[in-house]
Amino acid sequence: MNVLVIGSGAREHAICWRLAASRRVSKVFCAPGNPGIASVAEIVPVAVTAVSELLTAAERLGVGITVVGPEAALEAGVVDAFRAAGRAIVGPTKEAAMLETSKAFAKEIMIAAGVPTAKHEVFHDRASLERRCKEQGAPLVLKADGLASGKGVFVIEDAADFPAALDALFGPIKAERVVVEEFLTGVEVSCIFAANGSEVIPLAPAHDYKRLGEDDRGPNTGGMGSVCPSPRISESELAWIQEHCAAPILRVMRERGTPFSGFLYAGLMVPTDPAKRPDGIRVLEYNTRLGDPECQAILSRLASDPLELMEWIAGERATQPKLAWRPEVSTCVVVASDGYPEAPAKGDQITGLDLAALVPSTVVFHAATTRDSRGNLVSGGGRTLTVVGLGADYGSARSAAYKAVDLVQLRGRRVRRDIGA
Ligand code: AMP
Ligand code: GLY
Repeated sequence: MNVLVIGSGAREHAICWRLAASRRVSKVFCAPGNPGIASVAEIVPVAVTAVSELLTAAERLGVGITVVGPEAALEAGVVDAFRAAGRAIVGPTKEAAMLETSKAFAKEIMIAAGVPTAKHEVFHDRASLERRCKEQGAPLVLKADGLASGKGVFVIEDAADFPAALDALFGPIKAERVVVEEFLTGVEVSCIFAANGSEVIPLAPAHDYKRLGEDDRGPNTGGMGSVCPSPRISESELAWIQEHCAAPILRVMRERGTPFSGFLYAGLMVPTDPAKRPDGIRVLEYNTRLGDPECQAILSRLASDPLELMEWIAGERATQPKLAWRPEVSTCVVVASDGYPEAPAKGDQITGLDLAALVPSTVVFHAATTRDSRGNLVSGGGRTLTVVGLGADYGSARSAAYKAVDLVQLRGRRVRRDIGA
């Protein structure tokens, strides 16, 4: 079967790489892809939001199933268009993707589903939000309602930071609604579930590292690394999360007439005190796609056929696939360009990938890479590469990943040194 993957990041590189290894996949296409993806898939030069062009390409290329990577494609309605045309696709409809694209909607569904989450209120104007912040004081969390590329969440631990957050929310972010949430403490875990509209299958749990600097300091990023499986939760806790934080969402979405299929990513706050688990686990957010960089760490360990999983999600296969995982653990380290995340530099040459490719038990996925006019591989600005290391334990997975990372040359690159430590 031919498959089409929509997206151009390291997540989509990992999806293409894993699908290309399936015996049942004849050809992988990727729109719009990147220079790294070009080594495992044929590039289709169509943007992720160009819905009708994507559909035409899928028809022309004889694609049997399409897998959507980024939320922007979901929000553009690519799944709705493919479904209307009778084409199999992995991802939620635009309405179901509101679990990610609207924080207020996600909260409404969580409450209807009885999912444990932080207490919240929704504000529509600056004056009443300002009053609430004054009354409540810090710590408090403010979230812009729509997609804001990770820049819409303000975790305020010092009341002196309220004015700057309000300026950003009602200034550049142009928030129409702001969700105010109680501040939760603990460690974060990403539990991603494959969903076919009525049932869910848990993928191996992972966790990512959101801040730029070691020890979780510095600005928030899209994620500087990840590990899988996450040692922060047990198997029985994952089963509890499936029962309390994923299955009820599927039920409520189905009852509303907007069934959810695709990948449901529950971002969780897990209490560090074992006595407070599992009952103290809370959902921070849902994403309606595979996480980046969690996906790279997770798919590197998937041992069963990825196509079977995709077919089940898309409703093309009735029986639940049994997922198998490699016994090794994985550590995924992001190499970001100079200035990331505030002002990422572009156009710097990337070298050393040929040497990195020789490091055993590692794989390099490209994110924002591109070619200059002379054909050199250069940074496209932002998260540039992710390097996954596999090992019998976290220490060996880490050292494999960093060995390959340290062979890659990129001027001013930003790498966190404590992933998986
Ligand atoms: P979100 O996009 O909603 O996941 O928020 C981004 C990040 O902000 C999360 O990964 C957490 O690190 C932090 N965060 C979000 N909500 C809360 C909360 N209620 N309490 C503490 N930290 C939070
Ligand atoms: N790693 C967080 C995300 O994919 O949203």
